[in-house]
Amino acid sequence: MNLPPKPTKINQAAARISAVIVLALVNLATVDAMNPRLSLNSLTFQAINCRKHSALLTEFGGVGDGVTSNTHAFRQAIEHLSTLAADGGAQLVVPPGKWLTGSFNLTSHFTLFIDKEAKLLASQNESEWPRVEVLPSYGRGRDAPGGRYSSLIFGTNLTDVVITGNNGKIDGQGSYWWEKFHKEEVKVTRPYMIEIMYSDQIQISDLTLNNSPSWFVHPIYSRNVIIQRLTILAPVTEPNTDGINPDSCSNTRIEDCYIVSGDDCIAIKSGWNQYGIKFGMPTEDLVIRRVTCTSPNSTAIALGSEMSGGIRNVRIENIAVINTQAAVRIKTARGRGGFIKDIFVRRMFLTRMKYIFWMTGDYKAHADDKFDPSALPVIKNINYKELVAMNVSMSANLAGISGDPFTDICISNVKIELSATPKKLQWNCTNIEGFSSDVDPPPCAPLAKAAKRGGCDFPEDQLPIEKVQLKSCSLEIPVF
Ligand SMILES: *[C@@H]1O[C@H](CO)[C@@H](O)[C@H](O)[C@H]1NC(C)=O
Ligand SMILES: *[C@@H]1O[C@H](CO)[C@@H](O)[C@H](O)[C@H]1NC(C)=O
Ligand SMILES: *[C@@H]1O[C@H](CO)[C@@H](O)[C@H](O)[C@H]1NC(C)=O
Ligand SMILES: *[C@@H]1O[C@H](CO)[C@@H](O)[C@H](O)[C@H]1NC(C)=O
Ligand SMILES: *[C@@H]1O[C@H](CO)[C@@H](O)[C@H](O)[C@H]1NC(C)=O
Ligand SMILES: *[C@@H]1O[C@H](CO)[C@@H](O)[C@H](O)[C@H]1NC(C)=O
Repeated sequence: MNLPPKPTKINQAAARISAVIVLALVNLATVDAMNPRLSLNSLTFQAINCRKHSALLTEFGGVGDGVTSNTHAFRQAIEHLSTLAADGGAQLVVPPGKWLTGSFNLTSHFTLFIDKEAKLLASQNESEWPRVEVLPSYGRGRDAPGGRYSSLIFGTNLTDVVITGNNGKIDGQGSYWWEKFHKEEVKVTRPYMIEIMYSDQIQISDLTLNNSPSWFVHPIYSRNVIIQRLTILAPVTEPNTDGINPDSCSNTRIEDCYIVSGDDCIAIKSGWNQYGIKFGMPTEDLVIRRVTCTSPNSTAIALGSEMSGGIRNVRIENIAVINTQAAVRIKTARGRGGFIKDIFVRRMFLTRMKYIFWMTGDYKAHADDKFDPSALPVIKNINYKELVAMNVSMSANLAGISGDPFTDICISNVKIELSATPKKLQWNCTNIEGFSSDVDPPPCAPLAKAAKRGGCDFPEDQLPIEKVQLKSCSLEIPVF
């Protein structure tokens, strides 16, 4: 029988080392049981900037069971990660699961990444939504004169923020708010899904957004904004579920989005009556391309009705529209002031439409009765070319303002096929002046003057935001 060897100095040391190894293994096993990073999924995504640091929501107490509130976890995580802004920035990864949460605020040099198997569920508990000041360019809440709830994902005075995923989901659970709205019980303006204010370098991309309580995506008083590859879905009957509303923003690019909604798919805005005139911040240098829209009771792309800070240099191209009231609608009124000018639209494909062209000079909604009716909007140099439409009731309903006509309206190379029961009057034009060529059915007399050869203008140059190249970033998500 072999006795175990007497411990020597060397194998005492070996025993200590193996004890350390065993302890280390036990430790790893415990960590894995608590936070099961058994295997990691590596993925890449496109962003304006990549981050040096990365954290998971679960590291801050997040629970993805669809029932537990993660409001505190999101707020803690982002507060912590904000300290890394000057050290290469940080990304917060929302892993697979259902993450119920109230409103939280973003920080600078930050990425919120929502995995394709993750869904944020917006809380229906109003105490999880802080109230914020009304927008200065609106002077009041959009639903009610009082304050307004902060959006689900909110950011103000930020630089370099990315909200993205590999088609992760955010469900606004809007039914709670829509019911209140229908019962006229909304006392505080409903929250939006994503609102970014006074910020520079924003990206919102690669997500599916459902059922916002009100507007979905609202960049305001911001510049250098990229919004791409969003799927936005709301029931077509629910109130004010606008898809994307660039508002007093400059240098913005919206592309490759699919939107079905109960209000305008995209509404370009810049403040309301005397509040918007005083604030005086236009939406300018905006490109919208490759968007598909359905909105049976609203418009694919609206300009206004809040446009008192002005809207200029907007390029819209390659848009598909199905079962919607109008293609591009101008909405304004006496008292709005401001301007809508240098608007360029080309290549729209439309079917099941009430109107193709629609301009409304007496859009009734006013913030209050303190507006100055002599503040007249200037609507000028609006260009449409290369539109093909089918199943249309009325080609154009164009109403300017008496004493304030909408001028230099240009329409060229347009073919409209009418529905089985079209309106008798196809072009109704009042207080409108402009040009046309190659338009069928033939336009009204105020547009009969020939457009120049080659048709209406569309700029050849690119906006600075079109030249921004995204970087390829990577991250790892645990497989649960
Ligand atoms: C988010 O920021 C706004 C504006 O600074 C503030 O009013 C609000 O309370 C903040 N929300 C949270 C949850 O901290
Ligand atoms: C609503 O949220 C508040 C604050 O987070 C919490 O105290 C309350 O229990 C929640 N109410 C319900 C019904 O969950
Ligand atoms: C954000 O920026 C605006 C405009 O520059 C400024 O008026 C406001 O005070 C800033 N807010 C914060 C919280 O820094
Ligand atoms: C459109 O609006 C009318 C009147 O407000 C309403 O009766 C109808 O249900 C709406 N249709 C859709 C598809 O929302
Ligand atoms: C035309 O549009 C109407 C109303 O939107 C719809 O009921 C009808 O089916 C459409 N017809 C065709 C041929 O698409
Ligand atoms: C044409 O437009 C004018 C001005 O908006 C309006 O008063 C009139 O009812 C319209 N006519 C038809 C037939 O739609």
